[in-house]
Amino acid sequence: MKSSFFFVAMLCLFTTDLYAIDLDALIRHYAIKAEKENPVFSNFDLERGKNLYSRSFISGKKDTPSCTTCHSTDPTQIGETRAGKVIEPMAISTNPERYRSLKKVEKWFRRNCKSVLGRECNATEKGDFLTFMKNS
Ligand code: HEC
Repeated sequence: MKSSFFFVAMLCLFTTDLYAIDLDALIRHYAIKAEKENPVFSNFDLERGKNLYSRSFISGKKDTPSCTTCHSTDPTQIGETRAGKVIEPMAISTNPERYRSLKKVEKWFRRNCKSVLGRECNATEKGDFLTFMKNS
């Protein structure tokens, strides 16, 4: 009994570890991409990330001018979808469950950048955004 519990616990640890990623690893991932995309890339910038998060764009969909349209203006607070569903805070300090999967992060960057900016975000923008969330 004890040993089968141990086996299951190890299995869980192993399988979650296969898919687990954290915010620092994501930022490293985007830094490698940003270097490839832009030869003069030096570092991610918290202020640029903050600006991307709160700025209003006119190039995207009319009803979603900004990331803050759905995510709260304060990333430590909850936000709301267009349909009124709660979106948990984006800041890692208040929501440690965030940024655990590259697949999820990529899916939502693609979708939300297209809605807000009218195009996909580049690796520098993604890294800036995550750097802001890491420090919020
Ligand atoms: C139309 C509403 C809406 C807008 C506008 C929006 N988001 Fe989101 N975002 C969501 C929803 C819904 C989710 C998925 C639910 C969740 O993770 O809580 C999400 C999730 C994310 C995630 C995944 C986080 C994780 O835990 O992996 C990222 C990254 C993200 N959004 C970035 C952005 C950025 C950058 C912008 C602005 C360019 C933006 N979002 C604008 C609704 C929106």
